[in-house]
Amino acid sequence: MCPEEESNTQTLWDMTKGILGLASEKCTLGPHGKACENGGRATGTLGQCKCKCPKMTAGNNCEIQIAIGRPFGKVISTTRECPLLHVQDTNNNNNNKCSGGWSRSPPGLSWNMTLASIFKTLAIGVEETMIQSAIDEYIMQGVAEHTSVASFNRVSLQLMAFGAPAFLLHATMSAAQDEITHAQLMFGFAEKISDLLIKKNLLQYPNNFPFPNNSVSIGTKADVVRETLVEGVLGETSAAVRLCVRSRTTSNEYLRHLLARVSHDESRHAALAWRTISWAINDEEKETPRQAAEQWLNHMIETRAASTSLMMDGSMKDVDSGMFGLLPTEYVAGLSDMVMNEVVIPWLRQMLHFNFKNDWRNFTKEDLPFPSGLVGECVKQIVTAMRVME
Ligand SMILES: [Fe+2]
Ligand SMILES: [Fe+2]
Repeated sequence: MCPEEESNTQTLWDMTKGILGLASEKCTLGPHGKACENGGRATGTLGQCKCKCPKMTAGNNCEIQIAIGRPFGKVISTTRECPLLHVQDTNNNNNNKCSGGWSRSPPGLSWNMTLASIFKTLAIGVEETMIQSAIDEYIMQGVAEHTSVASFNRVSLQLMAFGAPAFLLHATMSAAQDEITHAQLMFGFAEKISDLLIKKNLLQYPNNFPFPNNSVSIGTKADVVRETLVEGVLGETSAAVRLCVRSRTTSNEYLRHLLARVSHDESRHAALAWRTISWAINDEEKETPRQAAEQWLNHMIETRAASTSLMMDGSMKDVDSGMFGLLPTEYVAGLSDMVMNEVVIPWLRQMLHFNFKNDWRNFTKEDLPFPSGLVGECVKQIVTAMRVME
């Protein structure tokens, strides 16, 4: 279904309301009679209900959280002000970018004159509002990466508490280090856009960052499974594929490098989540982690049936993430659905019901199937990382 058709789709309930003359009533729910999720707000009148989705969410009902890194999940505080240092610039003026020490260029790719002039050329004719929304997007991505640092640090304590093998702990702690770099790269790119393309300083960091509370909850091993499925298996597999697609469909050479680097790291993080699940559900002593994974899988299969976002083929041949390397919202939602339907659900089903746990180097496409085309090539990065992790 194309996005235009999708946005005009009315539910039977919506149409009934219209026929009954209730169409001027304000919407309290989103499309399909479902509430708007993740802070989305219902707009329009009955018969034409839509959700106005906050940043970093997508889907008709804002049901998809666009995480670029690994979300922290529960126990989160937003009450502390931007934790990044307020620094003074070289003229001793207060620097309201609030980014002291948290912005950088990717290693091996300096922001030289040639790149700057290519970037400026690409931006000719691009409206300032579009540039501003790209800046906001990269700031939000930096915030998501910043949050991932805390997430992986909590996971490392959980893994130690449940006696995980050293290779999982090693990979988790090195993932936390990756996320620091990712946050710096995202903030750094937002600042590059701002410095180069906007004459006045419109770079705004949010006042409140998601930040861990003063205590960390270790929970049970089944809790670790549930959190890893949401934050790692789903969150990082989707993030890795999305970043890979963005890196290969942008017209911006600098971003192609930056996003490819981050997508390789995220592929390792996704592989780590899958290997963590495999370790946790194959505990001979305890059945509960396995049951937690089975319950989550069943829930995903049920909710998948209600999924309505854009259907795409894996080649992504019509996709252009443009000079800012950002995918249109409908593709973000469609890609998330594809990852859920063609990777997450079949892989988890295989892990729970077929035994390949001790042979990671030799599993085949029949063991863990993946889509064709560009999306498949991106998924292969995760498969490769899973094979070599030990
Ligand atoms: Fe990341
Ligand atoms: Fe990550």
